[in-house]
Amino acid sequence: MANIFPRWTNLLPLKIAFCAGTAAVGVVAAFTVYATPKATVVGYQPSQPIPFSHKIHVDQLGLDCRYCHSFVDNSDHSNLPSANTCWNCHQHVQRQSPKLEPLHRAMDKTHPLYDGKPIQWVKVHKAPDYVKFSHSAHVNRGVSCVSCHGQVDQMEVVYHAKAHSMGFCLDCHRNPADNVRPLEEVFNLKYDPAEYLKQHVVLNDKGERISDPKEFGKKLSDVFKLQPRESCATCHH
Ligand code: HEC
Ligand code: HEC
Ligand code: HEC
Ligand code: HEC
Ligand code: HEC
Repeated sequence: MANIFPRWTNLLPLKIAFCAGTAAVGVVAAFTVYATPKATVVGYQPSQPIPFSHKIHVDQLGLDCRYCHSFVDNSDHSNLPSANTCWNCHQHVQRQSPKLEPLHRAMDKTHPLYDGKPIQWVKVHKAPDYVKFSHSAHVNRGVSCVSCHGQVDQMEVVYHAKAHSMGFCLDCHRNPADNVRPLEEVFNLKYDPAEYLKQHVVLNDKGERISDPKEFGKKLSDVFKLQPRESCATCHH
C-alpha cells in the first residue's frame, strides 16, 4: 500500500497553489469527476460478450499482443481487435463452439442472426477524462504492459489488476530504471532480467559484463535517455 501516502503529498497543497489559472480549473473539475470513478477499481472484471481467454491465445498459442492490439506501439490509444481478426482463425477453428455465437453474428453471412455489427466488448480500464495518457510513450521506452495491467497472459478473463492512481504513475516516473526492459521484451510478460543477463552479454561503460538487474535498468534508462516528467501538465489537460 506504499503509494497511498507518497512523499510528495506533503507538498501537494503547495504545488497546487503554484499551478496557475487553467490548471486550477482543471483541479476543481478533477475532484468532481474523481467523485464518480468508473472502471478504475482494482479487481473489476466484467463479463464479456465472448469469454475470450488471454491465457489460451497468448500463453498457449503464443500470439503477440500486437496481433490484436495493433496500435499499442504507435498511438496513444490501444485498440481492441475487430471481429475480422478473430475470424481469420475462427472461420476454421472451433467453428461449432457456442461461445463464438456473437462472432458468427458479426462475420458469418450464412448465420441466421448475421448483422455484421462489431462485438460490444466491455471496457475494463478507463482513465478519468482529465488524465492524459499515451501507450506508445511507454511501450517504446521499455515499459511493459505487465507494469500497468498485470499478468494478462495468464488471465482467463481480464480484470483490473493494478490501481492506476496518481501515486502509481508518479512512483515510476520518479524511478523508471527498475521498470524498464529491452524493447524486444516489452511484449514478453514473462521477462526476467536476471535470466536475460545470463543469455545476453551486456557491457557497462567500463567494458565489464553486467549481471545485476538494477545496473542493467540504469544502463537502459541511459540508453533510452529517460526523463519522465512530473509536472501537472504532463498528465492533466
Ligand atoms: C487474439 C487477440 C488478442 C491478443 C493476442 C491479445 N489480446 Fe488483449 N484483448 C483482446 C480482446 C478481444 C479484448 C477485449 C475482451 C476482454 O477484455 O477480454 C482484450 C482486452 C485486453 C485488455 C483490457 C482492455 C480494457 O478494456 O481495459 C488488456 C489490458 C489487454 N487485452 C492486454 C493484452 C496484452 C498485454 C496482450 C499480450 C500479452 C494481449 N492483450 C494480447 C484480444 C487480444
Ligand atoms: C491465430 C488464431 C486465433 C485467433 C486470431 C483467435 N483465436 Fe480463438 N482460438 C484459437 C484456437 C487454436 C483455439 C483452441 C484452443 C484450444 O482448444 O486449446 C481458440 C479458442 C477460442 C475460444 C474457446 C472456444 C471453446 O469453445 O472453448 C474462444 C471463445 C475464442 N478462441 C475466441 C476468440 C476471439 C474472440 C478472438 C478474437 C479476439 C480469437 N479467438 C482469435 C485460435 C485463434
Ligand atoms: C504505463 C502504464 C501502461 C502500460 C505500460 C500499458 N498500458 Fe494499457 N492502459 C493503461 C491505462 C491508464 C489505460 C486506460 C486508458 C484510457 O482510458 O484512456 C489502458 C488501457 C488499455 C486498453 C483498453 C483500451 C480501450 O479502449 O478499451 C488496452 C487494450 C490496453 N491498455 C492494452 C495494453 C497493452 C497490450 C500494453 C502493452 C503493449 C499496454 N496496454 C501497456 C496503462 C498502461
Ligand atoms: C512503470 C513505469 C511507468 C508507469 C507506471 C507510468 N509511466 Fe508514464 N512514463 C514512463 C516512462 C519511462 C516514460 C518515458 C519518459 C521519456 O521518454 O523520457 C513515460 C512517459 C509518460 C508520458 C509522456 C510524457 C511526455 O514527455 O510526452 C505521459 C503523458 C505519461 N507517462 C503518463 C503516465 C500516466 C498518466 C501514468 C499512470 C496511469 C503513467 N504515465 C504511468 C514510465 C511510467
Ligand atoms: C504521471 C502522471 C501524473 C502527474 C505528473 C500528475 N498527475 Fe494528477 N492524476 C494522475 C492520475 C492518473 C489521476 C487519476 C487517479 C485516479 O483515477 O484515481 C490523477 C488525479 C489527480 C487529482 C484528482 C484527485 C486524486 O488525487 O486522485 C488531482 C486533484 C490531481 N491529479 C492533481 C495533480 C497536480 C496538482 C499535479 C502536479 C503537481 C498532478 N496531478 C500531476 C496522474 C498524474
